[in-house]
Amino acid sequence: MHVFHHIESVRKALQQARSESKRIAFVPTMGNLHEGHLALVRQAQQAADVVIVSIFVNRLQFGLNEDWDKYPRTLEQDIAKLEAVNCDMLFYPEEQEIYPNGMDEQTRVVVPTMTDVLCGASRPDHFEGVTTVVSKLFNIVQPDVAVFGLKDFQQLAVVRRMAEDLCMPVEIQAAPIAREDDGLARSSRNRYISEDERPRATVLYQSLKWLKAEVDGGNLAFRELEQEAKARIEAQGFRVDYLKLCEAHSLEPAAEDDAELCVLGAMYTSAARLIDNIAFSRALTEQEL
Ligand code: PAF
Repeated sequence: MHVFHHIESVRKALQQARSESKRIAFVPTMGNLHEGHLALVRQAQQAADVVIVSIFVNRLQFGLNEDWDKYPRTLEQDIAKLEAVNCDMLFYPEEQEIYPNGMDEQTRVVVPTMTDVLCGASRPDHFEGVTTVVSKLFNIVQPDVAVFGLKDFQQLAVVRRMAEDLCMPVEIQAAPIAREDDGLARSSRNRYISEDERPRATVLYQSLKWLKAEVDGGNLAFRELEQEAKARIEAQGFRVDYLKLCEAHSLEPAAEDDAELCVLGAMYTSAARLIDNIAFSRALTEQEL
């Protein structure tokens, strides 16, 4: 696998691939790779001839009291994992390479809808940091396809909107959520869940599943279902950030006549904030159509 630290050298290598009419797929990450990321790489390999992963812990998307400096940096292990799945290229830039004029003076990319609800409500400016860095990375890599995990459902929706609004010539693909055997969604932050909390941490996914089953069974009291699902999580000793049933494209609170839905949740363990979601369709009855 070729590892690049500089924009100029990665561009040159990608230019070469493009001149050989190769399709390029891109998987942006912040490193500390686990099976979920490797599944994104495998999906990218199905979609293109050359796969490039980036590892960049983007300070711009972390809040002042968030864990940017604590975020695990595991480059050697990450390289070994990427090599084991035959990834072609890794882009691993220094902060100076991405933000040469400093972050305060960086031009920003802002998606005005969907970004101040759910994760955006408790992480102001987070999505602005994400869309700014993703658009820079897209400009550097110029991929035909980019693969994002469905676990960050809101991020995927926001990136899709950005690409659409700014006419970016890239196909955004979604990859399914990778889960542990007991259902916990894989995340770099799972390492902060204590041993004592770990068996109970599945309550987030269990509660989302419960809510979906209720809706599938015809229960349309959405706001009450959200309250009940929240209570189930709190009963296991966790603080809930949000638990909402949304229309899947707009991320507005779901209405009874919405067919494409997503139930999203975020909760705090003692040292981690975990997110999860389930996207699903609901067949509307004749009266609802
Ligand atoms: O999902 C992530 O790891 C990050 O938000 C991303 C997309 C790599 C941007 O920094």
